[in-house]
Amino acid sequence: MPSSLMHTHVVILAAGKGTRMKSARSKVLHRVAGQPMIEHVLAAADALSARTTTVVVGHQAESLKSALAGHPGLTFVVQEPQLGTAHALLTTESALRGQTGTLVLLSGDVPLLSANTLKTLLDTHTATQASATVITAVVDNPQGYGRIVRGSAESGQRIARIVEEKDASPDEREIREINSGIYAFALEGLYDAVRSIAAENAQNEYYLPDLVEIFRRQGMGVETVTVPNANEIRGINSRIELAAVSRIVRNQKNAELMAAGVTIEDPATAYIDRDVTIGPDTIVHPGVSLEGQTSIGAGCEIHTGVRIVNSQIGDHVQVFNHCVITDSVVANDVNIGAGTITCNYDGVNKNTTTIEDGAFIGSDSQLIAPVRVGKGSYVAAGSSITDDVPPEALAIARGKQVNKEGWVSRRKK
Ligand code: UD1
Ligand code: CA
Repeated sequence: MPSSLMHTHVVILAAGKGTRMKSARSKVLHRVAGQPMIEHVLAAADALSARTTTVVVGHQAESLKSALAGHPGLTFVVQEPQLGTAHALLTTESALRGQTGTLVLLSGDVPLLSANTLKTLLDTHTATQASATVITAVVDNPQGYGRIVRGSAESGQRIARIVEEKDASPDEREIREINSGIYAFALEGLYDAVRSIAAENAQNEYYLPDLVEIFRRQGMGVETVTVPNANEIRGINSRIELAAVSRIVRNQKNAELMAAGVTIEDPATAYIDRDVTIGPDTIVHPGVSLEGQTSIGAGCEIHTGVRIVNSQIGDHVQVFNHCVITDSVVANDVNIGAGTITCNYDGVNKNTTTIEDGAFIGSDSQLIAPVRVGKGSYVAAGSSITDDVPPEALAIARGKQVNKEGWVSRRKK
């Protein structure tokens, strides 16, 4: 069949227990840069315009299914018990019965894979008409990954097999080319080959990487695509790896923002989610969190310890230290004093605070939503604002101070 008419089917493995996370939650629901890691995988898979997308679930299957309810196109298959990655793929057989073309197998715990790399995988796989194509990378520290064993120089150093770390000889452990756990397979004959995999290894599991050796022995084509940026295929198996991968995503986001003209004083302590936008000449001080669907205009200054969630901030806005701003719409040229909190949640609903152009919010104020602070108005420091403030007005909403003269000396008597 001409390659242009070949369909692509995506399978995402997400049934494993994630033992090393030591978590009651499904591993793939742990968040990387504000998004469950499997959402990153689904976003990359989108680029393949696959005919079907199947997610293999098992451990915490129900919570995973409901977390992914927003993706109507997904098919779920349950793998119970979880006997390894080959066994996981086998559970998709009936869902994909009768389908032809290419199966792209993704791992729910490898969230940084780019759409471009997936396209390269598919292009290489189609162009070479291989039975299997494996994404690999050469890394400094291959610990924990399957190693790519290649044949002799005379044979063109083609991939011969993949050996898991626990089954590897000391020499094999020295190999620095690793298996990403991401593959393209020709669907034809795939499931029969997977069925022939045995669980004769250190973990008594059915290893999907064993397919490489099976195919090679049968003289079938196995190709590799080696990614230049090994970070893309980092897998997450522990909280330490979760933090490391999150750091990579943050660094990337910070770099993009800085390249676009945003000053980030201390990138190591800037926590800026993937979807956040910031205009040029805005300065982000240390220890700032910008989360969810947040946009910040140009020429703003966001001081230390500020947290902004799902809010739209205009141009030339000053947000002083330790403000918490959630579900707010802030116009231009606004000044928000230190320690201001927008109280958006009444226990049932989230409400919006709106701050209009040129408003000045005194320090340590609470803006109790839904509330609107009018154009050019002032809110006195320490106010709890529950009612709208008209344009150009001064709102003072705090207990009046009483000074009891001589109180200390009277008390001492
Ligand atoms: C796997 C590969 C290894 C590769 C690494 C890349 C195997 C045997 N090894 O190792 O060569 O370098 O990924 O990250 O495949 N899963 C199931 N059902 C199961 C077992 C696992 O759905 O029965 C899912 C997991 O939820 C996970 C993925 O498959 O999303 C990979 O499983 P994991 O146990 O993390 O494999 P690794 O030990 O990382
Ligand atoms: Ca893994």
